[in-house]
Amino acid sequence: MTVNKQPSRVVVIGTGNVGSSYAFSLINQNIADEMVLIDLNKEKTEGDAMDLNHGVPFGAPTKIWAGEYADCKDADIVVITAGANQQPGETRLDLIEKNAKIFKVIVNSVMDSGFDGIFLIATNPVDILSYATWKFSGLPMERVIGSGTILDTARFRFMLGDYFGIDVRNIHGFIMGEHGDTELPVWSQTRIGSEHVSRYMEKYKPDATKEDLDKIFVNVRDAAYHIIERKGATHYAIAMGLARLTRTILRNEHSILTVSTLLNGEYGLDDLYIGVPAIVSRNGVERIVETDLNEKETRQLHHSAQVLKEAMKPVFE
Ligand code: LAC
Repeated sequence: MTVNKQPSRVVVIGTGNVGSSYAFSLINQNIADEMVLIDLNKEKTEGDAMDLNHGVPFGAPTKIWAGEYADCKDADIVVITAGANQQPGETRLDLIEKNAKIFKVIVNSVMDSGFDGIFLIATNPVDILSYATWKFSGLPMERVIGSGTILDTARFRFMLGDYFGIDVRNIHGFIMGEHGDTELPVWSQTRIGSEHVSRYMEKYKPDATKEDLDKIFVNVRDAAYHIIERKGATHYAIAMGLARLTRTILRNEHSILTVSTLLNGEYGLDDLYIGVPAIVSRNGVERIVETDLNEKETRQLHHSAQVLKEAMKPVFE
């Protein structure tokens, strides 16, 4: 009996800060058998491939090379991090025009290879560029996934864990909507362990205030601005989020993550990509989880969707 398992292959398009941090995460977490790096700057991809290969003896037996679009044919996952990123003072939506043009070229080049796997999109504005990738590629929606608000949800859980002094793995809560200024915290579904956050506060942290929680959310929403002001870009956490998404696909983990996915009536919204909880596994988005939102949260989600739809118009009309 021979084991004829095909090696898992991930292609990273764009090896700037995010792409190279993502490649570094994959090798350290032993997630993929093969990793192909593609970038306009061929020398950079060759240098990154050499540098990562030299770490293999310390990490995991991963085959890494600087490749071409033809290497996408046999890829399980193509991750796109290429494009212009936010400069200080810029919003993510300011990047639409230039990145949509770049994506048209990239997605067509990937599809021309015969690619038939799953796209993971990280470039901003990620909700709109995920929608664009779905449109340009013609792939079924479940196989075009944006990082959505997985990073915002991670920031939310980290900051709540820090505030309450609780292991972040016992903080259950998430951020939905645009990965951007109109995202919203789902306080009605936020739990510390099995206790609703407001009940937990009453019982165990009477000095906690609603103002503190509101401040936490503002820091979550504006985190990227604060980091970009200090170091010029964000890349480690988003790279680790992409690695988590890659793992749940390649290992068929059926994880619930707030990815950017296409809504067709869920939450009363349709024909747009936006961050909502969804089950992700080997075939991509398995199911959207329609969690119960209160009236305020529903209003905020619909506002976020409206802002995205308005912003999409110049690209798709
Ligand atoms: C951030 C980028 C990934 O939020 O948009 O850090």
